[in-house]
Amino acid sequence: MKPVEIKKDIFWVGAVDWDSRDFHGYSMSPRGTTYNAFLVRDEKTVLIDTVKSDFLSEFLCSVSQACGGEPHIDYMVVNHLEPDHAGCLDVIVARFKPEKIFVSPMGEKALRSFYHDSKDWPIEVVPTGASISIGKRTIQFIETRMLHWPDNMVSYIPEDKIAFCSDAFGQNWATTERFSDEVDRGILNRLLAEYYANIVLPYSPMVLKTLDALAGMNLSIDMLCPDHGLIWRGHEDVAFALNSYREFALQKPTNKAVIIYDTMWHSTEKMARAICDGLVSEGVSVRIMSVKHNHHSAVMAEVFDAAAVLVGSPTHNNGILPMLADVLTYMKGLRPQNKIGAAFGSFGWSGECVKILTEHLSGMGMEMVEPAVKVKNRPDHETFQACYELGQKVGQAIKARLAA
Ligand code: FEO
Repeated sequence: MKPVEIKKDIFWVGAVDWDSRDFHGYSMSPRGTTYNAFLVRDEKTVLIDTVKSDFLSEFLCSVSQACGGEPHIDYMVVNHLEPDHAGCLDVIVARFKPEKIFVSPMGEKALRSFYHDSKDWPIEVVPTGASISIGKRTIQFIETRMLHWPDNMVSYIPEDKIAFCSDAFGQNWATTERFSDEVDRGILNRLLAEYYANIVLPYSPMVLKTLDALAGMNLSIDMLCPDHGLIWRGHEDVAFALNSYREFALQKPTNKAVIIYDTMWHSTEKMARAICDGLVSEGVSVRIMSVKHNHHSAVMAEVFDAAAVLVGSPTHNNGILPMLADVLTYMKGLRPQNKIGAAFGSFGWSGECVKILTEHLSGMGMEMVEPAVKVKNRPDHETFQACYELGQKVGQAIKARLAA
């Protein structure tokens, strides 16, 4: 990739991964992604982060071009140790022999366990509040623990009003454009939310604390550079990204329900549609998501701002179907808050499904709407009516919650 000068003497030197579909090994990225790294030319040449090692050769080429002469790197800033950002660190250290490598306190621990031969690397730990001079500019460091790993930090250059924010405010989108004001905003905003739902959601309490801390520091930011996706450019777009994260982190429910199910012989599927009718009769917007046709990360992208989650499975070997168990395990890890839950399903003989589903949802702190509906083999008219009524009751519970 060619470097892109994003501010005077500050270059994007990242990589665009058009084929990424399995982001970080667990979340779908249907539009690909980018690994953003940056090079600052001042009295010291500073490289901020690297890229996934698959892109090493292009990355080295881009860094060399951005250096604009004999390629050299004086300082490395490692905002995050996840391998899609620090994956080329050992090669950079071996090739350019930087004078200093700046990492957060937790970053040092992560670095040592990723790079076992780093004993002699010139590491300097920079906690929140530390800053360095690189010539005309300074770089200030702010730890952002658990956004998204313990080691994450933000690097801020006040002279340019630019913040390099690692995982925060990222989106998975492979594009030829680099800036938020160059792309379709509807898509960008949706991808920001999907990224949050699948990567950042469990750390929402930390997001709120970090946003408050950043607000308290009164940083003037007119460019926000995440490690993935488009750069937020201009005060309006930066404010939009910051405000969106506050909204996401608060997890306020919206007038939406998600029905998630798996099915063997279509009985549970038919129940899902009857429940949907009941919800719609109460004015709720509904998504029906078969786990056979929707990856767990697509399900979470809908669940995270929904008021209610209704889950259905037939009983299978005294349990629930395995693809649904996958979604529930994934959902539990992301710790969604403020949800209403309900369970339904069919069975042939033992019928444990709704009890198990209820345990899963209430274990995530959801307020369960009862009675759950279960039916032996095929739903009849009475079952459909019970499903419709369950949908209505959930719809009424959503209304009550939104009105509170
Ligand atoms: Fe793409 Fe937590 O890194």
